[in-house]
Amino acid sequence: MATTGLEGVVAATTRLSDVDGERGELVIAGFPVAELASNATFEETTWLLWHGDLPTGKQLDDFRRELGAQREIPEATHRLLRDCAKADVDPMDALRIAAGTISLESEDQSAIVAKFPTIVAAFWRLTKGQTPIAPREDLDHAANFLYMLDGEEPNAERVRGLETYLNTVVDHGFNASTFTCRVITSTGSDLVSAVVGAIGALKGPLHGGAPGPALETVFEIGDAARAEQVLRGKLQSGERLMGFGHRVYKVRDPRADVLGAAAERLYRRAGDMSLYTLARHVEATAIRLLEEFKPGRRLQTNVEFYTALLLHGIGLDVSLFTPTFAISRVSGWIAHALEQREAARLIRPKSEYSGRRDRTWTPIQNR
Ligand code: COA
Repeated sequence: MATTGLEGVVAATTRLSDVDGERGELVIAGFPVAELASNATFEETTWLLWHGDLPTGKQLDDFRRELGAQREIPEATHRLLRDCAKADVDPMDALRIAAGTISLESEDQSAIVAKFPTIVAAFWRLTKGQTPIAPREDLDHAANFLYMLDGEEPNAERVRGLETYLNTVVDHGFNASTFTCRVITSTGSDLVSAVVGAIGALKGPLHGGAPGPALETVFEIGDAARAEQVLRGKLQSGERLMGFGHRVYKVRDPRADVLGAAAERLYRRAGDMSLYTLARHVEATAIRLLEEFKPGRRLQTNVEFYTALLLHGIGLDVSLFTPTFAISRVSGWIAHALEQREAARLIRPKSEYSGRRDRTWTPIQNR
C-alpha cells in the first residue's frame, strides 16, 4: 500500500538545508540555524542560499542596491490589491493574486524577493482603509518592510527580531511549498509561476497558516490557571493544537528555540514579560496533554508557536504572520527552483490505482 503523504521518501538531493528530525537539528547552507539566524541580515541569507557562500562587502552592497531599486510594484498590482481589500480576501490570497502580476515587469529573482514585502504591506494598509506607503531604497529589506507598515523607521531591536525570524524560516528541506515550487520548476515553467504555486501551498493551516491560531489560543487562555482546562477541552473535542507536532521533527523544532530566545529578548527589553511567561506555561501544558492524549506520538513545539510570539512582539498583526513567512520563504523557494533547474529532471511520481476496472457505459436514461 502506498503511503499517502510521501513521508520518509527522498525526492531530491539539495545543498540548501538539512532537517534532522530525530536530533532536532537544522542546517542552512552549512550553518546551524542558530548561528545564521542571529548574525546574518536577510540579504546575506538570501545571497548565501542563491550562491552557496556569504557575500563579500562589495557583493552585499550591490545586492542591497539591487533589491532596493526593485521594490516598487506596478500600478496594475495596486489596483488589484485595492479590489482584494474591497472583497475582503484572505491576505495570502491577495499575495498570490498580486505576486502573479510581477510578470508584468520582470521575472528576475531579485525583483520577486524585493516586491513581496511591498505587496504584503500595501494590502495590509488597504484592509485598514489606509494608503500604502512607498518603499524606501535606503533601508534594508527587513527595516523597509516594517517602515512600509506604519511609515516609521523601526528601531534596531524590531529589525533584529524580524531578521532573526526571516533567517530562521527561509528554508526547511522538502516542505510542502518548496516541493510545490520544485515540481512546477521541473516542468520547465518560470519562477513567478513556481512561487505563486508555492504561496498556495504555504497558506494551509497544516503548513504556514498555524501561527495566527497558535497566538489566538494563548490569548483565549489569557491566564495560566486556565491553560489546562482550555487545552484539554480542545483535545477532547478532537481539535489539533496549533504550533505543536511536525511531520519530520519528533523532538523539539530547533527553530522554536531560536525564535523563543529572540522573543524573550524582545519582551524583556520592552519591559513586559507577561505574554511570554503565559506562552511558556501554555507550551508546557500543551506538551504534557499531547503526551496524555496521543501517547508515543512525540508531539512537540514547532516553529509556529514562537513565530507567533516573536512577530506579535515586533508589533505585527496576526493577519501578517503567514504573509511574513512568505516574505522569507520566497528566497528559499527561488534557491530550490535554481537547484531544480540544474537537476533538469521532471518530477513525476507514480500513483497506485485503487478504483474500479472494466466498467461498461450506462446510457443517461438508465441511470
Ligand atoms: N494537536 C493534536 N493532535 C495532533 C497534533 C496537534 N497539533 N499533531 C498531530 N496530532 C495527532 C494526529 O491527529 C495523529 O493522531 P492519530 O494517530 O490518533 O490519528 C497523531 O497525532 C500523529 O500525527 P502525525 O501523523 O505525526 O501528524 P502529521 O505528520 O500528519 O502532521 C502536522 C504534522 C504539522 C500537520 C500536525 O502535527 C498538525 O496538524 N499540527 C498543528 C498545525 C501546525 O502547528 N502546523 C505547523 C507545522 S510547522
